[in-house]
Amino acid sequence: MKDNRFLTLGIESSCDETAVSVVADGRDMLSNVISSQIAIHTKFGGVVPEIASRRHLENVNDCVNQALEDAGVTLDDIDLIGVTHGPGLIGAVIIGVATAKALSWAKGIPLVGVNHMHGHVSANYIQYKELEPPFMALVVSGGHTNLIKVNDYNECEVLGATRDDAAGEAFDKVARVIGLGYPGGPKIDKAAKEGNPDAVEFKRVYLEKGSLDFSFSGLKTQVLDYINHERMKKREVSVPDIAASFQASVLDVLVDKTMMAVEREGEEKVVVAGGVAANSGLRAKLSEACAERGIELCMPEPVLCTDNGAMIAAAAYYKYKKYGADDLELDAYADLPF
Ligand code: KG4
Ligand code: ZN
Repeated sequence: MKDNRFLTLGIESSCDETAVSVVADGRDMLSNVISSQIAIHTKFGGVVPEIASRRHLENVNDCVNQALEDAGVTLDDIDLIGVTHGPGLIGAVIIGVATAKALSWAKGIPLVGVNHMHGHVSANYIQYKELEPPFMALVVSGGHTNLIKVNDYNECEVLGATRDDAAGEAFDKVARVIGLGYPGGPKIDKAAKEGNPDAVEFKRVYLEKGSLDFSFSGLKTQVLDYINHERMKKREVSVPDIAASFQASVLDVLVDKTMMAVEREGEEKVVVAGGVAANSGLRAKLSEACAERGIELCMPEPVLCTDNGAMIAAAAYYKYKKYGADDLELDAYADLPF
């Protein structure tokens, strides 16, 4: 039953999760349905875009109905529909956008397109009810690695970005190389807990002095070179040690650059966002670094770090308040700048 709060239905389908959520006043998550395709893509060792699109198509209506039911409302109670319109796998994004447009048109509900990465940052508004910009955001996902100065709800400045692989992509590729398979991030996270982070010395790539950009593609090559070298010497390699050493080299750079950005910009708050923010080592290391400097740290619980509809609803709410609705010409994009 609807109370007098403003209800947003958030739809996310940019990669391998069909996710729908109802959020009240941009902050309170009333439902959060996530239909994961992990089991399907595991046998292929990664996300197969065509299969992902087809599964979104099969799942999306059920996810919408379930999200409404869990929230105890109907479409007639929804005030706004927010949908990821990029960046992502284009066929997958199109399913979410087409669904949102159809619901918007049929029910006369305003529609807002949300940048997926802006959605990730906005997951923090759900978890931290009092959080308001400005703050520094470290956004680390399968497709992006960014340091973003969030000046206002709809005003972001990209200070640093990856020049090659994203952090999550590095986790996924290295997991494949060491035989852990898909999805790589959580598997490396788990294996690293059993390994020694000092066992193998992988390089930390900082780029030019003062740069807030990242580069992770060389790490995969370093891991491969190390494995080949050990095998040539007929030595056993320890998967947990490689996982722990690789993870340590990624996390050192992520945390050091985040602290550099905070100090340079004089920010007092840091938020993390995106799938890699679910990494237990990153959470521990960032907590320590922020505590040492007296910086406030927001880390949404893991289910809000990986893809979900609530983050899209939160971002849509603030975008709609400032800019109003999009029209039915709203398009889907594989690439969409922050
Ligand atoms: O944000 P997300 O769910 O989807 C994208 O927007 O890409 O992020 C997925 C990425 C994948 O690369 C996955 O391996 C990584 O996040 N990931 C993790 C962990 N959980 C997910 N990486 C490291 N540790 C984790 N616990
Ligand atoms: Zn994502």
